[in-house]
Amino acid sequence: MLTSEHSKRLASTKTLPIVNSYNEWDTLQEIIVGRVEGACVPQFDATIKANTYPKNWWFFQKYGGRPYPQELLEPASKQLNEFCRVLEGEGVTVRRPDIIDFSSSYKTPDFEATGLYAAMPRDILTVIGNEIIEAPMAWRARFFEYRAYRSLMKEYLKQGAKWTTAPKPLMSDELYDFDYPIETVEDRHELAELGRFVTTEFEPCFDAADITRCGRDLFVQRSQVTNKLGITWLRNHLGDRFRVHTLKFQDPNPMHIDATFVPLRPGLVLTNPDRPCYQIDIFKKAGWDVVTAVQPTLPDNWPLYMSSKWLCMNILILDPKRVIVEKDEEPMHKFFKNLGFEVIPVAFRHVYTFGGSFHCVTCDIRRDSQLEEYGF
Ligand code: ARG
Repeated sequence: MLTSEHSKRLASTKTLPIVNSYNEWDTLQEIIVGRVEGACVPQFDATIKANTYPKNWWFFQKYGGRPYPQELLEPASKQLNEFCRVLEGEGVTVRRPDIIDFSSSYKTPDFEATGLYAAMPRDILTVIGNEIIEAPMAWRARFFEYRAYRSLMKEYLKQGAKWTTAPKPLMSDELYDFDYPIETVEDRHELAELGRFVTTEFEPCFDAADITRCGRDLFVQRSQVTNKLGITWLRNHLGDRFRVHTLKFQDPNPMHIDATFVPLRPGLVLTNPDRPCYQIDIFKKAGWDVVTAVQPTLPDNWPLYMSSKWLCMNILILDPKRVIVEKDEEPMHKFFKNLGFEVIPVAFRHVYTFGGSFHCVTCDIRRDSQLEEYGF
């Protein structure tokens, strides 16, 4: 029997704009999946130092400004391709960015650098309704990252999407605190508590991955790459249709919210046990259940140059029932099954080495969703 809900769904599918997504969980139809081809290790500067741990600095000192070693690229590229195949098998249209050589160097009037990669579209792009916003970014190595996505952006524009680029920062020396202490985690804890990060308030900057979407309500964190002015730009740009809330976590090294705080479906949010949220009452008062992620299983010797093991939380939701979880994170599989999800396991640890997992390496272009409120 066709229920009224079914008929509403079918009807809405027909009329969906090409770019259309308001949250992290409605039925996914089209997605961009990043790629590691052409990736370059970023040059070791204050921002990289502030976001990595001393035990990994040798990697940036050795390879900074040069292509990622082939033995890291190949297995990651294979896992990304397999992930695309799984998505297509689940009925999702997959698009990929252009291949660009990120190791060619560039010079603006304010700085000189080499690039990074087009592996993490979540970091640079966010879709809010029918609008796709290119984030300004904060790392010099990411200044020109948008170039890998321009073919896709033009295509979406021609098909009716609203395409916005946030003001590009100069990324001159004033945007960074070169004295930002980086030696110990304790230093960083203290500074994060004081609201001091490696980026200053000289000009707006943000990475799109510091935003998570729950319909009318968007949640953003001040991080090493997103400053208050960046959040102000977003709030002013979006206007009255959306509410932009700032969240703060107990995190010495905030960068990208999607391994820290992950809305799973209306009324359910996944939190990181190591990074409690100071404003969790916003969710509790709205009647949301708060669940805490179980421990990751990644061995300590796995090469992770740019992130923590909490990538196990960086899942991709295909609809309120199906979720893609890393193949070897078995405690997480059990956890999601207990929450009523069907788990689709995909091997992804070689991609972890590039700093992200399923949510980071994607940008959902179209979900079967409309603007709603979820109790906030
Ligand atoms: N900074 C996070 C962590 O280490 C990783 C977040 C990665 N997210 C992303 N969109 N690149 O836990």
